[in-house]
Amino acid sequence: MLLSKIPNYYQERREQLYKAYPDAVFIFPAHPDLIRNSDVHHPYRQDSNFYYLSGFDEANSFLVLAPPSKRRPSSPRMILFVAPRDPEKEMWEGERYGVEGAQAVFGADEAYVVSEFDKRLPEILLGSERVFYRLGLNSDMDRRVTSVLEIYRMSQGRTGKAMMPIQDPHLPVGEMRLFKNEAEIDLMRKGCQITALAHREAMKQIRPGMNECELEALVDYLFRKEGCARLGYGSIVAGGKNAACLHYRFNNDTLRDGELVLIDAGGEYGYYSADITRTFPIGKRFTSGQAKAYNLVLKAQKSAIAMAKPGAKLPDIHKHICEVMIDGLLSLGLLKGKLDEILGSGGYRRFYPHNTSHWLGLDVHDAGLYYKDGTPRSLEPGMVFTIEPGFYVQPTDLDVPAEYRNIGIRIEDDILITEGGCENLTILAPKEIKEIEALRA
Ligand code: GLY
Ligand code: MN
Ligand code: MN
Repeated sequence: MLLSKIPNYYQERREQLYKAYPDAVFIFPAHPDLIRNSDVHHPYRQDSNFYYLSGFDEANSFLVLAPPSKRRPSSPRMILFVAPRDPEKEMWEGERYGVEGAQAVFGADEAYVVSEFDKRLPEILLGSERVFYRLGLNSDMDRRVTSVLEIYRMSQGRTGKAMMPIQDPHLPVGEMRLFKNEAEIDLMRKGCQITALAHREAMKQIRPGMNECELEALVDYLFRKEGCARLGYGSIVAGGKNAACLHYRFNNDTLRDGELVLIDAGGEYGYYSADITRTFPIGKRFTSGQAKAYNLVLKAQKSAIAMAKPGAKLPDIHKHICEVMIDGLLSLGLLKGKLDEILGSGGYRRFYPHNTSHWLGLDVHDAGLYYKDGTPRSLEPGMVFTIEPGFYVQPTDLDVPAEYRNIGIRIEDDILITEGGCENLTILAPKEIKEIEALRA
């Protein structure tokens, strides 16, 4: 369904970008429309930076931003190159906005059919000092853009000038994307809520003997029923030892009584991804070994969430989690030695091999620098990230007592930094053993 109006914040973002780079031209190609097999396409999703700055979600298009015209000096010129209206094609593939819609709905100052991109770009470049374009994602596109830049350079006559410098727009746009505004936070709250309730429902509906793919389909159905357009990333539904595989993708094993299942799945709502992991019994209750390991991960996760506030730093949160985990693993007899030494040697990585946090937003592993000037950046209001400690026993690790075998546990919530501390956006997904066992009963 086509939109008739989009929010003002896309233009505000373009203005913010141009305050910092008034002399630049930004070029964002649409995400390519990829063939899956034969003439079947993968589901289409727009490139996140393109979407962030325009709201335009059609393939086969370019967003170009150029320095402001005299007529409207506060705003960069927004130029969209789009697929033309075509009744025959639209009968097969669906409606398009066309050149008129690009202007009327998305507020483009100029819009052209996409075949005119190479011809018009040199004129758009006139007077600018540099180009922002992301090299390395698509070699055909790289060749196309750099050849236009070379044509532009040649058109300048014998000036001795080099090709315009090309910089990666992902840095400045990523910096903006790191700080979510109220509208984005509303979308993320909603997506996180839908995702949390789907995880809760999975806890209720799981039964021994089901296949992992049934739970995968259940959460997918619930995300979409509640308004998510798609998944934020491929779901992980991993029973028993499968959960020790960090990026398990098969989701096709039988779920067995007495084992745990780990679900890492998030719906994408208004283009923003949620990212929740919950781990719970396939039968009615945690076994004693599972409960001891689970409570350790939960303790680490809750105490890390308590640290999340303005000024805190992600590496400190990670270090804290490692310390709580090592302390607990020593108590359970799973590690031997001194906490500091195990922290220094990384010996804990046998059971907790990944990092604790990543930014979250339009991409599940969202844009934005983690370090600035060589030091970890401080958390600030508007940043959203995950806290996701885990405990995994590799099937090959036979030195672990039987009660801890076939286990992979991760507990993951999505955290928004606020002025006064933080808001757990995924609080509705149960994680206390008592709550989970009540649902399982
Ligand atoms: N779902 C991907 C992650 O947790 O990082
Ligand atoms: Mn995550
Ligand atoms: Mn996850």
